[in-house]
Amino acid sequence: MDALVRLLQLLVLLLTLPLHLMALLGLWEPLCKSYFPYVMDVLTAKNNRKIESKKRELFSQIKGLAGASGKVALLELGSGTGANFQFYPAGCRITCLDPNPHFQTFLTKSMAENRHLEYERFVVAFGEDMKELADGSMDVVVSTLVLCSVQSPKRVLQEVQRVLRPGGLFFFWEHMAEPQGSWALLWQQVLEPTWKHIADGCCLTRETRKDLESAKFSELQMEQHPPLLKWLPVGPHIMGKAVK
Ligand SMILES: C[S@@+](CC[C@H](N)C(=O)[O-])C[C@H]1O[C@@H](n2cnc3c(N)ncnc32)[C@H](O)[C@@H]1O
Repeated sequence: MDALVRLLQLLVLLLTLPLHLMALLGLWEPLCKSYFPYVMDVLTAKNNRKIESKKRELFSQIKGLAGASGKVALLELGSGTGANFQFYPAGCRITCLDPNPHFQTFLTKSMAENRHLEYERFVVAFGEDMKELADGSMDVVVSTLVLCSVQSPKRVLQEVQRVLRPGGLFFFWEHMAEPQGSWALLWQQVLEPTWKHIADGCCLTRETRKDLESAKFSELQMEQHPPLLKWLPVGPHIMGKAVK
């Protein structure tokens, strides 16, 4: 099976050689960072239409989590275009964090469309090192379709726990690898080296459920959903919450 994966990977690599050469020369990443926000803008609308009721149900739990300030301090990790703003209740004070500053235009548009929220600031940084954010400063952290793209899910989850106050909640909606031994996983393995370049670092075969289970949350609840967009090689999704 491994030899077959390698052979097919090589075939895909040859078919997409210019992309890989550009990546090798450091020319692809800046291009990807510029176009990816446009791709996400389109995909976000599609995703949200399909998952609207689930997101609404998940984020309805934010009500009543206000800290000492009377507001809910919420960190949108890997904020992208601001895909979740419409689902948050009034009274949330949002901090956005994303390493890609090209999302700013889309984020500003989402903010203008969701005036029931307060926006604290947009921090351009990686989730693995959120030194701009103080320990225990957040009531809620949200991560949707982000843990697939980070360099180290383990370090990001440690940082999430650091910035959450005791009892604070981490809400997530993430995709993960198809089941072991399936043809779908084989195709994910074949496409991953090329997909990572096209989709701004997204790993198709990440075992995000295991990463969440090994992180030291005091409580963890999640449910699994089938892949959302059938024409993409993205696997099943998990949605849920963890308590610090
Ligand atoms: C697929 S997009 C999802 C955006 C948004 N959360 C959503 O649900 O539409 C992945 C996002 O994660 C961001 N990202 C990539 N690496 C990251 C990292 N190390 N830390 C935080 N965010 C990261 C990307 O810039 C991008 O905005």
